[in-house]
Formats: sequence, C-alpha cells, structure tokens
Amino acid sequence: MSFTTGNRILAASMALALLAVIPATSPACADGDAAHGKEVFAKCALCHQIGEDARNNVGPALNGVYDAPAASRSGFNYSRALNEAGNNGLVWNAENLDNYLENPRGFLTGGRMAFAGIPSPDDRADIIAYLKQFP
Ligand code: HEC
Repeated sequence: MSFTTGNRILAASMALALLAVIPATSPACADGDAAHGKEVFAKCALCHQIGEDARNNVGPALNGVYDAPAASRSGFNYSRALNEAGNNGLVWNAENLDNYLENPRGFLTGGRMAFAGIPSPDDRADIIAYLKQFP
C-alpha cells in the first residue's frame, strides 16, 4: 500500500517535472515579447518617438500606427511613395509591418526610411508587439 502510494507520488512529480520543462523549450510566442521589443526599439528611436508626448522627428511619431493606413500620422511630410501606398490601401497590419521592417527600401521603392532593416523575425515580432501597446 505505502509502496504504491509512493510510486504514484513519484509518477506525479515526474509529470510535474516534465511540465516545468516544456515552456522553456517551446517556440517563441507568435504574439511577440513587447518588453524585448522596447529594447529593440532603441534602433528606431534615432528617428521615431512613441508614447505620451511623442512628436514627429526624422520619422513620424508612431502612436496608433499599428493597423492604421500608411502615411496617416498627422503633420508628417511623407515621401510620395508612402503617400501613394497609403492611398492605394496599404495598412500597417502585422504582416505588412513585418515585411517593411525586414527591408524598408525593398518593401517600398522610393520610401524615405533610411534604415537597413531588422533581420531577426523574432525581433520584428517583438517590435510589433511593442507598437501595439500604443494604440
Ligand atoms: C534613419 C531614420 C529612421 C529609422 C532608424 C527608422 N525609421 Fe521608420 N521611418 C523613417 C522615415 C523618414 C519614415 C517616413 C518614410 C516615408 O515617408 O517614406 C518612416 C516610416 C515608418 C513607418 C510608417 C509610418 C506611417 O505613418 O506610415 C513605420 C511603421 C516605421 N517607420 C517604423 C519604424 C521602426 C519600427 C523602426 C525601427 C525598427 C524604424 N522605423 C526605424 C525613419 C526612420
């Protein structure tokens, strides 16, 4: 009796140990890690402000940019290419942001964002999660 009970406890604790291991080895969450995105945003902060009191700078203030039509931040003088893309229906959803941030000039010929891009898909997902925090 005590032997079987002990076995059950052993089995249960082994199952718990397995459960504890799974999250550490599962792939990165598709939603991105906004806290890490904030760190990666340092690369953008050279030209972009975001959050309370954000103002247009070399690039537009990025509050509300997620899911907004391209070139729709007020008071910013966009390139003709980005204005046209916005007029033609380009919206900054996750997929378009991901492609733009990977290679801004490749995504938009004639665009003015002089930035090489973020090669890591995880870093891009994290930045997008961060942008979403400023509706
Ligand atoms: C060297 C300056 C510079 C850097 C660095 C930069 N950007 Fe930009 N960004 C711009 C400029 C300028 C524009 C406007 C482009 C145009 O008019 O074609 C822009 C446009 C954008 C837009 C489109 C805004 C809209 O209203 O349509 C997004 C989104 C954006 N940048 C995100 C980012 C993110 C995220 C990063 C960092 C990974 C970044 N940018 C880094 C200068 C920069």
